[in-house]
Amino acid sequence: QAIRLSDYRPPAFLVDEVFLTFDLQPNTTRVKAKLSVRRNGDHAEPLRFNGERLKPVSVAVDGRALAEGERTIDAEWLTIPDVPDAFTLETEVEIDPENNKALEGLYMSGGRFCTQCEAEGFRKITFWPDRPDVLSRFTVRIEADKAFGRLLSNGNLMESGDLPGGRHYAVWNDPFPKPSYLFALVAGELDVLEDSLVTMSGRTVELKIYVDPGMAPRAAYAMDALKRSMTWDEQAFGREYDLDLFMIVAVRDFNFGAMENKGLNIFNSSLLLADPATATDLDYERIESVVAHEYFHNWTGDRITCRDWFQLCLKEGLTVFRDQSFSADMRGEAVQRIKDVKALRARQFAEDQGPLAHPVRPSSYLKIDNFYTATIYEKGAEIIRMLKTLIGPEAFRAGMDRYFERWDGQATTVEAFINCFEDASGRDLSDFFAWYEQAGTPRVSLASRYDEAARTLTLDLRQETPPTPGQPQKKPLPIPVIVGLLDHEGRTQAFERDGQAVDETVVVLDAAQATVTLTGVDRPPVVSALRGFSAPVVLKTDAPAKDRYVLLASDPDLFNRWEAGQGLAAELILARAAGRADEVNEERYAEAVARALSDQAADPAFKALLLALPSEPDLALQMSPADPAAIHEAREALRARLSVHLEPELRRLHTGLQDLGEFSPDAAGAGRRALRNAALELLAANPRHDIADLAQGHFQAAGNMTDAMGGLSALMQIGGAPFEQALADFYARWKSEPLVVDKWFAIQARDPSEGALGRVLGLTAHPAFEGKNPNRLRALVSTFANFNPARFHDPSGAGYRFLADQILAIDGFNPMTAARLVDPLGGWRRYRPELGALMKAELQRIAAKDGLSKNVYELATRALGEE
Ligand code: ARG
Ligand code: ZN
Repeated sequence: QAIRLSDYRPPAFLVDEVFLTFDLQPNTTRVKAKLSVRRNGDHAEPLRFNGERLKPVSVAVDGRALAEGERTIDAEWLTIPDVPDAFTLETEVEIDPENNKALEGLYMSGGRFCTQCEAEGFRKITFWPDRPDVLSRFTVRIEADKAFGRLLSNGNLMESGDLPGGRHYAVWNDPFPKPSYLFALVAGELDVLEDSLVTMSGRTVELKIYVDPGMAPRAAYAMDALKRSMTWDEQAFGREYDLDLFMIVAVRDFNFGAMENKGLNIFNSSLLLADPATATDLDYERIESVVAHEYFHNWTGDRITCRDWFQLCLKEGLTVFRDQSFSADMRGEAVQRIKDVKALRARQFAEDQGPLAHPVRPSSYLKIDNFYTATIYEKGAEIIRMLKTLIGPEAFRAGMDRYFERWDGQATTVEAFINCFEDASGRDLSDFFAWYEQAGTPRVSLASRYDEAARTLTLDLRQETPPTPGQPQKKPLPIPVIVGLLDHEGRTQAFERDGQAVDETVVVLDAAQATVTLTGVDRPPVVSALRGFSAPVVLKTDAPAKDRYVLLASDPDLFNRWEAGQGLAAELILARAAGRADEVNEERYAEAVARALSDQAADPAFKALLLALPSEPDLALQMSPADPAAIHEAREALRARLSVHLEPELRRLHTGLQDLGEFSPDAAGAGRRALRNAALELLAANPRHDIADLAQGHFQAAGNMTDAMGGLSALMQIGGAPFEQALADFYARWKSEPLVVDKWFAIQARDPSEGALGRVLGLTAHPAFEGKNPNRLRALVSTFANFNPARFHDPSGAGYRFLADQILAIDGFNPMTAARLVDPLGGWRRYRPELGALMKAELQRIAAKDGLSKNVYELATRALGEE
């Protein structure tokens, strides 16, 4: 029962207009829908609309109620065999929002009504052709008890007032035709933070952020980010907001980050609320980027949407690219790029190397919810970035303009999108399209030969993409490799490419193998390749360690400077993990890091990134078979060495970067705190000193959540009584703040020490463990499985069993959230066989469970390789 891209057919019926009436009651909400339906072209089939978990009350065509025999309703469809070519369909159904714990469709969170319809939630609200290529104009009337003080939906408020019996109503109209997945409704007691913005054409847009009572001050940063996003989209892409009102609502119970419903974005409160006392700099950074992301969807998603869900990357990859570009402008290009690439490698590269690998545009699925993945989002964004690199910024912007012009108000495809860039650049991008269709991470190797007499540098590039499920044969992809040269003193050296003198060039590797000769290379070069991570590939070069030390010290491309350090560190750790400790020269690495730290000109945020070693999951991808225990130990050993070697410098940073003035969440303030906390984190790895006092002092003196978490995390490494005390103090202080309690669960889930697994198991019985809330579940379960490899991969298999137990329990009420937890078991083939076997056994136990949701079934069977 898989859905295939090749089976796509245009909808048989269109809905031009709909009038919805909601009579809101927690357990018996009535939804009346009046649709103007019209047959699309010469489709002859009967009417078949989606509808799930709806209690039908009535169905009428052109005002005449249909008898039982004139329509059928099963668990998934309303079918009416005989309908005119154009008619009015009226339906009434009853639903139970309060007992909707799947958090899809209309549900309740914190006593308020809210909705989540993407991808296929609208069919749980009313009968509808629930597919993104049916665009309709919505008018929505909401009636509710006055206790639900705010009644919100998409578009403009047309009317509102009182009703008898202590009830009231509001009518909303959205003038822009939209697919059902962008529908939203919110009703409840909410406070609002208001502001406004004048757009580039001089219109004033009202901005309103709705939050839990008392929380409005914590929406200030999101509001600021929203205004900056709106102005940025005008400047960077010429996109202006199109309604007179833009609303955001924050809810505590939400399956993902946020949702771009037209004019009424709904956010997980963890990605909206912030103040210095309760939110970390990382929270601020994410709020800024997600607010931007959802806002940018107004054009890339809402005004122009997807023809079908296989085109999901059309809106998601593009919108991630847009939010990453925005963040780069807000926070610095290099630092942002490094963070984006770290996230890409941690999530997407892992996915691409396992059984769940899939193309950015997949060709079949069981549940589309399972494809809101790092591949579609993050690799999708990388493809857009490469496109811009290949055709240049001017042609890229011209292509975007064309896309907005040509497809506004429509649902379209990735082909149509790429076609706009072919037109704008005059280039044939048919080979480039393979990036969308081929899964897997290409391996690129680079060998270089310098001819001193001829002053030429010959670069030999090769690519190969390993097979992925369903795609045994891979073709070469066009890979843009940005190359620059240094000399051995670390000075940039210019060279010639096709007779032009340049500092940097884009080499496009578009075959399995290519040779490129650079001329005018006066001095023996050090090659800086794949600058800015110009393509989502794994690059192996033949450069000796000494060249990489030159890059680490001097590459003007800060991404590659960082990358050189990461590569050197990874080699040291992996050699030790493989039992080749004698080969490692940790002192040399420590020296280089010390020099980089003392560079007065470097940005503290960048130094903080330099100081962090590659993560354990990232290292596991580079070791075959992966041995998480050995990696943990080897990485800790290098950290201890660095800590001892750098101690005076780390202490100096820790003292010198102390913030005395007022807290500012901007990039500069965040960078200083990041470096100071990174220094503490590394100091805590020092086995020779009693560092507990320092960490304790840091924790107790923390004037903001970033420093509090930095202290707590250092104390976690130290363990014992100081950590226990800090955990207890932290909980006592913050127990009434759900977003902070999430952090308290998460830090314990990250604890790699021996006894931590028992604690994690015990935490599911803690009174504060709200087992139905996705944030709380993720804080404990997902943090443990994804960020605590040492304990998740406990040789007993208890970590795997815990995850599987949780998946099965959560699947009983919230399949989407359960399915998102399957991924960590998917890597089973990459681990030591005895671990892999235990992981596989848990996947089998999950797949064999009776009554499993389609969501979890699809992922568990794909992870096992049985599909
Ligand atoms: N479109 C939303 C966003 O990226 C995410 C919706 C997630 N929906 C889902 N079924 N996974 O901003
Ligand atoms: Zn999105």
